[in-house]
Amino acid sequence: MTLATDQLNSRGLRISGSATRELANSAMGRENLIPLWFGEPDQSTPQFICDSAAKALKNGETFYTEGLGKPFLREAIATYQNNLYDCNMATDRIAVTLSGGNALNLAFQSILDDGDKMVTTLPSFPNLLAIPALQGADVQAVNIRPTEDGWKLDIDEFLDRAKGAKVVLLNSPNNPTGWTLNHDEQRYILDELRNRGTWIIADDVYSRLYYDGKAAPAFLEISQPEDRLIVVNSFSKAWAMTGWRIGWLTLPASLTPTVEKLMEYSAACVPAFTQHAALSAITKGEDFIETSNQRYLKSLEVVSKRLSEFPNIKFPRPNAAFYAYFQINGVTDNMAYARKILDETGVGLAPGIAFDPDAKDWFRLCFANSTDRINEAFDRMTPLLLSQ
Ligand SMILES: Cc1ncc(COP(=O)(O)O)c(C=O)c1O
Repeated sequence: MTLATDQLNSRGLRISGSATRELANSAMGRENLIPLWFGEPDQSTPQFICDSAAKALKNGETFYTEGLGKPFLREAIATYQNNLYDCNMATDRIAVTLSGGNALNLAFQSILDDGDKMVTTLPSFPNLLAIPALQGADVQAVNIRPTEDGWKLDIDEFLDRAKGAKVVLLNSPNNPTGWTLNHDEQRYILDELRNRGTWIIADDVYSRLYYDGKAAPAFLEISQPEDRLIVVNSFSKAWAMTGWRIGWLTLPASLTPTVEKLMEYSAACVPAFTQHAALSAITKGEDFIETSNQRYLKSLEVVSKRLSEFPNIKFPRPNAAFYAYFQINGVTDNMAYARKILDETGVGLAPGIAFDPDAKDWFRLCFANSTDRINEAFDRMTPLLLSQ
Protein backbone atom coordinates (compact mmCIF):
# COMPACT_ATOMS: atom_id res chain seq x y z
CA MET A 1 0.00 0.00 0.00
CA THR A 2 1.25 3.49 -0.78
CA LEU A 3 1.28 5.57 2.36
CA ALA A 4 0.39 9.23 2.36
CA THR A 5 3.77 9.91 3.93
CA ASP A 6 5.84 8.08 1.27
CA GLN A 7 8.36 10.44 -0.32
CA LEU A 8 7.74 12.94 2.42
CA ASN A 9 10.89 14.25 4.02
CA SER A 10 9.42 16.81 6.37
CA ARG A 11 11.07 18.02 9.57
CA GLY A 12 8.18 16.45 11.48
CA LEU A 13 8.87 13.05 9.94
CA ARG A 14 12.61 13.25 10.54
CA ILE A 15 12.57 14.30 14.19
CA SER A 16 12.73 11.43 16.70
CA GLY A 17 10.00 10.95 19.29
CA SER A 18 10.50 11.20 23.04
CA ALA A 19 12.20 8.13 24.57
CA THR A 20 10.50 8.77 27.90
CA ARG A 21 7.08 9.01 26.27
CA GLU A 22 7.74 5.75 24.37
CA LEU A 23 8.50 3.94 27.62
CA ALA A 24 5.53 5.48 29.43
CA ASN A 25 3.14 4.61 26.59
CA SER A 26 4.19 0.98 26.82
CA ALA A 27 3.05 0.93 30.47
CA MET A 28 -0.37 2.56 29.93
CA GLY A 29 -3.00 0.87 32.07
CA ARG A 30 -0.43 -1.13 34.06
CA GLU A 31 -1.52 -1.66 37.66
CA ASN A 32 0.58 -0.78 40.66
CA LEU A 33 2.87 1.47 38.63
CA ILE A 34 5.11 4.03 40.35
CA PRO A 35 5.69 6.52 37.53
CA LEU A 36 8.70 8.71 38.33
CA TRP A 37 9.56 9.46 34.70
CA PHE A 38 7.64 12.68 34.00
CA GLY A 39 8.46 16.04 35.49
CA GLU A 40 5.39 16.75 37.54
CA PRO A 41 4.37 16.91 41.18
CA ASP A 42 2.26 14.05 42.53
CA GLN A 43 -0.24 16.50 44.09
CA SER A 44 -3.08 18.00 42.09
CA THR A 45 -3.39 21.78 41.75
CA PRO A 46 -4.25 23.60 45.03
CA GLN A 47 -7.97 24.12 45.55
CA PHE A 48 -7.84 27.94 45.64
CA ILE A 49 -6.42 27.92 42.10
CA CYS A 50 -9.07 25.47 40.83
CA ASP A 51 -11.80 27.57 42.49
CA SER A 52 -10.75 30.65 40.50
CA ALA A 53 -11.07 28.75 37.22
CA ALA A 54 -14.46 27.34 38.25
CA LYS A 55 -15.69 30.82 39.18
CA ALA A 56 -14.55 32.27 35.83
CA LEU A 57 -16.38 29.51 33.97
CA LYS A 58 -19.48 30.09 36.05
CA ASN A 59 -19.28 33.77 35.16
CA GLY A 60 -19.32 32.89 31.46
CA GLU A 61 -15.65 33.54 30.71
CA THR A 62 -15.63 31.21 27.72
CA PHE A 63 -14.68 33.60 24.90
CA TYR A 64 -11.51 34.40 22.97
CA THR A 65 -9.19 36.66 24.93
CA GLU A 66 -6.40 39.13 24.10
CA GLY A 67 -3.52 37.52 22.17
CA LEU A 68 -0.92 38.60 24.72
CA GLY A 69 -3.07 37.62 27.68
CA LYS A 70 -5.58 39.37 29.90
CA PRO A 71 -4.21 42.73 31.08
CA PHE A 72 -4.83 41.81 34.76
CA LEU A 73 -2.61 38.72 34.44
CA ARG A 74 0.16 40.46 32.47
CA GLU A 75 0.24 43.15 35.14
CA ALA A 76 0.27 40.60 37.98
CA ILE A 77 3.16 38.70 36.35
CA ALA A 78 5.18 41.92 35.94
CA THR A 79 4.52 42.81 39.60
CA TYR A 80 5.45 39.30 40.75
CA GLN A 81 8.77 39.46 38.88
CA ASN A 82 9.48 43.02 40.05
CA ASN A 83 9.02 41.92 43.67
CA LEU A 84 10.93 38.67 43.27
CA TYR A 85 13.88 40.15 41.39
CA ASP A 86 13.80 43.71 42.65
CA CYS A 87 13.48 45.07 39.13
CA ASN A 88 11.11 47.47 37.43
CA MET A 89 9.66 45.94 34.31
CA ALA A 90 6.64 47.26 32.45
CA THR A 91 3.61 45.13 31.60
CA ASP A 92 4.28 45.45 27.86
CA ARG A 93 7.20 43.03 28.30
CA ILE A 94 4.89 40.16 29.30
CA ALA A 95 3.08 37.72 27.00
CA VAL A 96 0.88 34.98 28.49
CA THR A 97 1.32 31.68 26.63
CA LEU A 98 -0.20 28.22 26.42
CA SER A 99 2.48 26.57 28.59
CA GLY A 100 6.25 26.85 28.83
CA GLY A 101 6.47 24.65 25.71
CA ASN A 102 4.38 27.12 23.70
CA ALA A 103 6.48 29.98 25.13
CA LEU A 104 9.62 28.24 23.83
CA ASN A 105 8.06 27.80 20.38
CA LEU A 106 7.06 31.47 20.22
CA ALA A 107 10.46 32.61 21.47
CA PHE A 108 12.36 30.64 18.84
CA GLN A 109 9.91 31.54 16.06
CA SER A 110 10.22 35.21 16.81
CA ILE A 111 14.00 35.32 16.28
CA LEU A 112 15.15 32.28 14.24
CA ASP A 113 15.64 32.10 10.50
CA ASP A 114 16.38 28.90 8.57
CA GLY A 115 19.93 27.70 9.19
CA ASP A 116 20.62 30.02 12.15
CA LYS A 117 22.96 28.54 14.73
CA MET A 118 21.55 27.83 18.20
CA VAL A 119 23.73 26.65 21.07
CA THR A 120 22.56 25.11 24.32
CA THR A 121 23.79 22.66 26.97
CA LEU A 122 23.53 18.88 27.35
CA PRO A 123 22.01 16.96 29.05
CA SER A 124 18.82 18.81 28.26
CA PHE A 125 15.04 18.64 28.30
CA PRO A 126 14.71 17.22 24.73
CA ASN A 127 12.24 19.89 23.57
CA LEU A 128 14.94 22.55 23.95
CA LEU A 129 16.78 20.94 21.03
CA ALA A 130 13.76 19.65 19.11
CA ILE A 131 11.87 22.97 18.95
CA PRO A 132 14.68 24.97 17.25
CA ALA A 133 15.52 21.95 15.06
CA LEU A 134 11.90 21.85 13.86
CA GLN A 135 12.27 25.52 13.00
CA GLY A 136 15.28 24.80 10.79
CA ALA A 137 18.07 25.86 13.15
CA ASP A 138 21.55 24.39 13.25
CA VAL A 139 21.41 23.08 16.84
CA GLN A 140 24.65 22.59 18.77
CA ALA A 141 25.33 21.81 22.42
CA VAL A 142 28.09 21.88 25.02
CA ASN A 143 28.11 19.35 27.86
CA ILE A 144 27.75 20.34 31.48
CA ARG A 145 29.83 17.89 33.50
CA PRO A 146 29.52 16.22 36.90
CA THR A 147 32.29 17.24 39.33
CA GLU A 148 32.94 16.76 43.06
CA ASP A 149 31.09 20.07 43.53
CA GLY A 150 28.06 19.16 41.42
CA TRP A 151 27.36 19.92 37.77
CA LYS A 152 29.49 22.57 36.05
CA LEU A 153 29.51 24.26 32.68
CA ASP A 154 32.82 25.51 31.33
CA ILE A 155 31.55 28.99 30.48
CA ASP A 156 34.48 29.85 28.20
CA GLU A 157 33.97 26.64 26.24
CA PHE A 158 30.29 27.49 25.93
CA LEU A 159 30.96 31.05 24.78
CA ASP A 160 33.54 29.80 22.32
CA ARG A 161 31.04 27.37 20.81
CA ALA A 162 28.44 30.16 20.73
CA LYS A 163 30.56 32.19 18.31
CA GLY A 164 28.45 32.89 15.23
CA ALA A 165 25.24 31.75 16.98
CA LYS A 166 22.10 33.83 16.60
CA VAL A 167 20.78 32.57 19.93
CA VAL A 168 21.82 30.54 22.96
CA LEU A 169 19.43 28.75 25.24
CA LEU A 170 20.28 28.39 28.93
CA ASN A 171 18.03 26.31 31.13
CA SER A 172 18.91 27.12 34.74
CA PRO A 173 17.94 25.41 37.01
CA ASN A 174 18.39 22.62 34.55
CA ASN A 175 16.26 19.64 33.71
CA PRO A 176 17.50 16.90 34.28
CA THR A 177 20.59 17.76 36.42
CA GLY A 178 19.48 20.67 38.63
CA TRP A 179 22.62 22.56 37.51
CA THR A 180 22.17 26.28 38.20
CA LEU A 181 24.07 29.30 36.89
CA ASN A 182 25.24 31.79 39.52
CA HIS A 183 25.07 35.57 39.07
CA ASP A 184 28.75 35.96 38.24
CA GLU A 185 28.42 33.41 35.47
CA GLN A 186 25.23 35.06 34.21
CA ARG A 187 26.92 38.50 34.20
CA TYR A 188 29.92 37.15 32.32
CA ILE A 189 27.70 35.48 29.70
CA LEU A 190 25.40 38.49 29.37
CA ASP A 191 28.29 40.96 28.93
CA GLU A 192 29.97 38.84 26.28
CA LEU A 193 26.81 38.04 24.32
CA ARG A 194 25.61 41.63 24.58
CA ASN A 195 28.83 42.69 22.82
CA ARG A 196 28.28 40.10 20.12
CA GLY A 197 24.56 40.89 19.66
CA THR A 198 23.60 37.27 20.41
CA TRP A 199 20.16 36.51 21.81
CA ILE A 200 19.73 34.61 25.07
CA ILE A 201 16.66 32.51 25.73
CA ALA A 202 16.60 31.73 29.45
CA ASP A 203 14.34 28.83 30.35
CA ASP A 204 13.43 29.62 33.95
CA VAL A 205 10.58 27.17 34.47
CA TYR A 206 12.35 25.74 37.56
CA SER A 207 13.31 29.14 39.00
CA ARG A 208 11.12 28.68 42.10
CA LEU A 209 12.23 25.10 42.71
CA TYR A 210 15.40 26.29 44.33
CA TYR A 211 16.54 25.03 47.72
CA ASP A 212 19.12 27.74 48.49
CA GLY A 213 16.79 30.73 48.54
CA LYS A 214 13.51 32.12 47.28
CA ALA A 215 14.38 31.88 43.58
CA ALA A 216 17.35 30.80 41.49
CA PRO A 217 19.68 33.56 40.19
CA ALA A 218 18.03 35.06 37.12
CA PHE A 219 19.18 37.03 34.08
CA LEU A 220 16.18 39.29 34.74
CA GLU A 221 17.91 40.62 37.86
CA ILE A 222 20.98 41.83 35.99
CA SER A 223 19.70 42.76 32.53
CA GLN A 224 18.41 45.90 30.82
CA PRO A 225 14.90 46.08 29.30
CA GLU A 226 16.17 46.10 25.70
CA ASP A 227 18.81 43.41 26.12
CA ARG A 228 18.43 40.58 23.63
CA LEU A 229 16.96 38.39 26.35
CA ILE A 230 13.79 36.31 26.30
CA VAL A 231 12.77 34.54 29.49
CA VAL A 232 10.50 31.50 29.34
CA ASN A 233 8.41 30.59 32.36
CA SER A 234 5.53 28.33 33.26
CA PHE A 235 2.86 27.74 35.89
CA SER A 236 3.34 23.98 35.45
CA LYS A 237 5.99 23.14 38.02
CA ALA A 238 6.01 25.57 40.96
CA TRP A 239 2.21 25.76 41.21
CA ALA A 240 1.50 22.09 40.32
CA MET A 241 -0.40 23.08 37.16
CA THR A 242 1.13 20.80 34.50
CA GLY A 243 -2.26 19.91 32.99
CA TRP A 244 -3.45 23.51 32.68
CA ARG A 245 -1.03 24.50 29.91
CA ILE A 246 -0.24 28.05 30.87
CA GLY A 247 3.05 29.94 30.99
CA TRP A 248 4.55 33.27 30.03
CA LEU A 249 7.33 35.10 28.24
CA THR A 250 9.28 38.14 29.35
CA LEU A 251 10.52 40.01 26.29
CA PRO A 252 12.18 43.22 25.22
CA ALA A 253 9.08 45.40 24.61
CA SER A 254 10.13 45.86 20.96
CA LEU A 255 9.63 42.10 20.37
CA THR A 256 6.18 41.89 22.00
CA PRO A 257 4.20 42.80 18.83
CA THR A 258 5.97 40.00 16.93
CA VAL A 259 4.98 37.47 19.59
CA GLU A 260 1.41 38.80 19.45
CA LYS A 261 1.29 38.09 15.68
CA LEU A 262 2.77 34.61 16.13
CA MET A 263 0.22 33.84 18.83
CA GLU A 264 -2.60 35.02 16.56
CA TYR A 265 -1.49 32.64 13.81
CA SER A 266 -1.14 29.64 16.16
CA ALA A 267 -3.57 29.27 19.07
CA ALA A 268 -4.85 32.88 18.99
CA CYS A 269 -5.03 33.20 22.78
CA VAL A 270 -4.99 31.51 26.17
CA PRO A 271 -8.38 30.54 27.70
CA ALA A 272 -9.79 33.11 30.12
CA PHE A 273 -10.55 30.65 32.93
CA THR A 274 -6.97 29.34 33.08
CA GLN A 275 -5.77 32.94 33.24
CA HIS A 276 -7.97 33.53 36.29
CA ALA A 277 -6.46 30.41 37.86
CA ALA A 278 -2.96 31.66 37.04
CA LEU A 279 -3.75 35.02 38.64
CA SER A 280 -4.62 33.29 41.91
CA ALA A 281 -1.50 31.15 41.67
CA ILE A 282 0.86 34.05 41.17
CA THR A 283 -0.73 36.37 43.73
CA LYS A 284 -1.65 33.85 46.45
CA GLY A 285 0.64 30.89 45.84
CA GLU A 286 3.71 31.68 47.97
CA ASP A 287 2.69 29.45 50.90
CA PHE A 288 2.05 26.58 48.51
CA ILE A 289 5.49 26.98 46.91
CA GLU A 290 7.17 27.06 50.30
CA THR A 291 5.34 24.01 51.61
CA SER A 292 5.86 21.94 48.48
CA ASN A 293 9.56 22.86 48.27
CA GLN A 294 10.01 21.66 51.86
CA ARG A 295 8.29 18.45 50.88
CA TYR A 296 10.50 17.98 47.78
CA LEU A 297 13.60 18.62 49.87
CA LYS A 298 12.60 15.79 52.22
CA SER A 299 12.12 13.52 49.22
CA LEU A 300 15.52 14.56 47.88
CA GLU A 301 17.07 13.53 51.22
CA VAL A 302 15.48 10.10 50.88
CA VAL A 303 16.58 9.70 47.26
CA SER A 304 20.15 10.74 48.15
CA LYS A 305 20.28 8.30 51.04
CA ARG A 306 18.84 5.41 49.06
CA LEU A 307 21.09 6.01 46.03
CA SER A 308 24.18 6.23 48.26
CA GLU A 309 23.60 2.59 49.26
CA PHE A 310 24.70 1.39 45.81
CA PRO A 311 28.46 1.50 45.25
CA ASN A 312 28.04 1.51 41.46
CA ILE A 313 25.73 4.54 41.40
CA LYS A 314 27.00 8.10 41.02
CA PHE A 315 24.59 10.89 41.98
CA PRO A 316 25.70 14.53 41.86
CA ARG A 317 23.16 15.98 44.30
CA PRO A 318 21.18 18.92 42.92
CA ASN A 319 20.04 21.99 44.80
CA ALA A 320 17.22 22.90 42.46
CA ALA A 321 14.41 21.45 40.29
CA PHE A 322 12.91 18.09 41.30
CA TYR A 323 15.00 15.53 39.48
CA ALA A 324 17.60 13.01 40.58
CA TYR A 325 19.86 12.38 37.59
CA PHE A 326 22.17 9.46 38.37
CA GLN A 327 24.60 7.12 36.64
CA ILE A 328 24.59 3.34 37.07
CA ASN A 329 28.04 2.06 36.34
CA GLY A 330 27.92 -1.01 34.09
CA VAL A 331 24.70 -0.18 32.24
CA THR A 332 25.29 0.20 28.51
CA ASP A 333 21.73 0.67 27.23
CA ASN A 334 19.60 2.71 29.60
CA MET A 335 16.44 2.39 27.49
CA ALA A 336 16.64 -1.42 27.79
CA TYR A 337 17.52 -1.18 31.49
CA ALA A 338 14.68 1.28 32.23
CA ARG A 339 12.35 -1.17 30.47
CA LYS A 340 13.70 -4.00 32.64
CA ILE A 341 13.15 -1.96 35.81
CA LEU A 342 9.64 -1.18 34.61
CA ASP A 343 8.82 -4.79 33.73
CA GLU A 344 10.25 -6.32 36.90
CA THR A 345 9.35 -3.69 39.50
CA GLY A 346 6.68 -1.39 38.04
CA VAL A 347 8.86 1.68 38.67
CA GLY A 348 9.07 4.14 35.78
CA LEU A 349 12.37 5.97 35.32
CA ALA A 350 13.34 8.16 32.36
CA PRO A 351 16.37 6.90 30.41
CA GLY A 352 19.32 9.31 30.10
CA ILE A 353 19.32 9.06 26.30
CA ALA A 354 16.18 11.16 26.37
CA PHE A 355 18.38 14.04 27.58
CA ASP A 356 21.72 13.31 25.94
CA PRO A 357 22.32 10.73 23.17
CA ASP A 358 25.66 9.78 24.78
CA ALA A 359 24.29 9.33 28.31
CA LYS A 360 23.81 5.56 28.00
CA ASP A 361 24.14 4.79 31.71
CA TRP A 362 22.22 7.72 33.23
CA PHE A 363 18.64 7.80 34.54
CA ARG A 364 16.25 10.50 35.74
CA LEU A 365 13.83 10.12 38.62
CA CYS A 366 11.35 12.85 39.53
CA PHE A 367 11.31 13.21 43.31
CA ALA A 368 8.26 15.51 43.50
CA ASN A 369 6.59 12.59 45.22
CA SER A 370 5.92 11.55 48.81
CA THR A 371 8.79 10.00 50.75
CA ASP A 372 6.63 6.87 51.17
CA ARG A 373 6.29 6.47 47.44
CA ILE A 374 9.99 7.06 46.85
CA ASN A 375 10.90 4.53 49.56
CA GLU A 376 8.51 2.03 48.03
CA ALA A 377 10.10 2.57 44.59
CA PHE A 378 13.56 1.93 46.04
CA ASP A 379 12.37 -1.10 48.04
CA ARG A 380 11.15 -2.58 44.78
CA MET A 381 14.24 -1.66 42.74
CA THR A 382 16.94 -2.56 45.25
CA PRO A 383 17.38 -6.28 44.44
CA LEU A 384 17.68 -5.47 40.73
CA LEU A 385 20.07 -2.58 41.28
CA LEU A 386 22.26 -4.67 43.58
CA SER A 387 22.51 -7.42 40.98
CA GLN A 388 23.66 -4.99 38.27
C1 LIG B 1 13.28 22.84 31.02
C2 LIG B 1 11.84 22.81 30.67
N1 LIG B 1 11.33 23.82 29.96
C3 LIG B 1 10.03 23.85 29.62
C4 LIG B 1 9.18 22.86 30.00
C5 LIG B 1 7.76 22.92 29.55
O1 LIG B 1 6.87 23.09 30.59
P1 LIG B 1 5.30 23.22 30.31
O2 LIG B 1 5.10 23.13 28.84
O3 LIG B 1 4.63 22.15 31.08
O4 LIG B 1 4.93 24.56 30.82
C6 LIG B 1 9.66 21.77 30.74
C7 LIG B 1 8.77 20.65 31.12
O5 LIG B 1 9.18 19.62 31.60
C8 LIG B 1 11.03 21.75 31.10
O6 LIG B 1 11.56 20.74 31.81
